[in-house]
Amino acid sequence: MAKETKLLSLQKHNHVFVKFAISFLVLGLAFGLLSSDSIRIVSNIEIAPLAEEKTESPVVSLPIQAPVSSPFPQNESYTSENVSVKCDIFKGDWIAEQSGPAYTNESCHVIEDHQNCMRNGRPDSGYLYWRWNPRDCELPRFNSHRFLDLMRDKSWAFIGDSISRNHVQSLLCILSQVEQAVEVYHDEEYRSKRWHFAAHNFTLSVIWTPFLVKAAIFEDMNGVSSSEIQIYLDKLDEKWTDQYKNFDYVVIAGGKWFLKTAIYHENNTIAGCHYCPGKNLTELGFDYAYRKALQLVLNFVMRYEYHNHKPFVFFRTTTPDHFENGEWFSGGYCNRTVPFKDGEIEIRDVDTIMRDIELEEVEKAAGVGSKNGAILKLLDTTRLSVLRPDGHPGPYRKFHPFGKDKNAKVQNDCLHWCLPGPIDSWNDLVMELLVNGEKYR
Ligand SMILES: *[C@@H]1O[C@H](CO)[C@@H](O)[C@H](O)[C@H]1NC(C)=O
Ligand SMILES: *[C@@H]1O[C@H](CO)[C@@H](O)[C@H](O)[C@H]1NC(C)=O
Ligand SMILES: *[C@@H]1O[C@H](CO)[C@@H](O)[C@H](O)[C@H]1NC(C)=O
Ligand SMILES: *[C@@H]1O[C@H](CO)[C@@H](O)[C@H](O)[C@H]1NC(C)=O
Ligand SMILES: *[C@@H]1O[C@H](CO)[C@@H](O)[C@H](O)[C@H]1NC(C)=O
Ligand SMILES: *[C@@H]1O[C@H](CO)[C@@H](O)[C@H](O)[C@H]1NC(C)=O
Ligand SMILES: *[C@@H]1O[C@H](CO)[C@@H](O)[C@H](O)[C@H]1NC(C)=O
Repeated sequence: MAKETKLLSLQKHNHVFVKFAISFLVLGLAFGLLSSDSIRIVSNIEIAPLAEEKTESPVVSLPIQAPVSSPFPQNESYTSENVSVKCDIFKGDWIAEQSGPAYTNESCHVIEDHQNCMRNGRPDSGYLYWRWNPRDCELPRFNSHRFLDLMRDKSWAFIGDSISRNHVQSLLCILSQVEQAVEVYHDEEYRSKRWHFAAHNFTLSVIWTPFLVKAAIFEDMNGVSSSEIQIYLDKLDEKWTDQYKNFDYVVIAGGKWFLKTAIYHENNTIAGCHYCPGKNLTELGFDYAYRKALQLVLNFVMRYEYHNHKPFVFFRTTTPDHFENGEWFSGGYCNRTVPFKDGEIEIRDVDTIMRDIELEEVEKAAGVGSKNGAILKLLDTTRLSVLRPDGHPGPYRKFHPFGKDKNAKVQNDCLHWCLPGPIDSWNDLVMELLVNGEKYR
């Protein structure tokens, strides 16, 4: 776990070394995972050297600065009233909020057991009473009535891994105050699902495609892997592209699965691998594969057109985990009960590498989009999520884990988010970018 006293800063990495360090540290890939599609995280990654400080790149998520050259000293009332000062909605603090979550384990029936922290007996509830407060603007709470009215006859899809499913369940729970959705489809493993809101004729889907590109995964439901993952970096996963024409809005996310051992294919040949000692293959690093995959994905979505139809695309950045004093497989836990303050924690190197790739590729793609009318918005939730070590199930991924034995050794989940929990604010951000997007970039 990163030392909490370190400043949150985004730093440029010596990529070659980091790549090597990461592949060196990613061990024991055959360990069972938290759940079928959770991830493994490298340990002690902060030993990788951090080189040159880097200022943040001028990517789409960042604010267009107020004209700093203004000859007039700006006083408080002037700046707060002037709406031309664009705000970085992803920069701010978590502040105490008395009103609490929009739903509970009683009012929402779609919370997955592993994330149902209330029902599973999590003793503290303080983590429910915070809201994301962007530094320079107000973030309104999600308005379910307005959202569903906007979504009449529309279709929305979340495309990614189990964190995308976590996210979609938060949205379903929030919307359930207005209308309960009916599940109309699920795949065999209950990883991809579709719901329908009949009164609004709104369709909401989640599509499980942890690499976004074509991949062969040899893992059972307990995450035990019988062979290396084969990833085809030049072919998209048809599971989502085949349905793409049906969607008006999509939230795409990738990430952590790329940290696993994998063989990389390109042009019908093996191009290399990530963490495959003894295979006599070129170690390409997960960052190589992640960038390739995102380029393919973003190229597809930005150029996509079907009968003049282009979905509105959000790309969500990588989600951080908060295992401390170990990893998910080695006794790591996350028992904090309050958020960090800005500056109290730094983003881990793997997440910084992933997020940098995401920001760079989204920025490049957004440039293409602005020419052909496609809309791509960055949902840069990494930094605000890193401040929420208190938002994970921890041991409460299981029903009353200490019910029989107070000292039971239990597997912790410090990656997925409790529902209700901090992930609900991701939907506040989605809603605000949807209705007031032009205010933020
Ligand atoms: C702030 O700016 C406003 C408008 O420019 C001006 O009317 C006001 O006097 C200023 N207040 C201070 C404290 O400078
Ligand atoms: C904000 O400032 C700009 C110039 O910096 C000005 O043109 C605009 O009218 C101001 N808007 C408001 C609402 O005061
Ligand atoms: C909700 O959680 C509470 C504990 O916070 C528990 O007593 C109750 O049974 C749960 N309800 C459901 C429907 O899971
Ligand atoms: C529901 O929405 C779909 C588009 O998502 C549309 O094709 C269909 O006609 C709508 N149904 C009704 C009853 O309006
Ligand atoms: C795949 O083929 C393309 C075009 O023929 C080429 O540019 C690229 O370098 C090839 N990639 C690999 C890994 O061989
Ligand atoms: C590893 O691969 C290279 C090139 O494909 C080959 O020349 C070499 O003999 C291989 N080494 C082993 C130990 O198989
Ligand atoms: C978290 O767990 C560790 C180890 O069991 C313990 O030392 C620490 O006091 C706990 N922190 C909280 C906030 O409960």
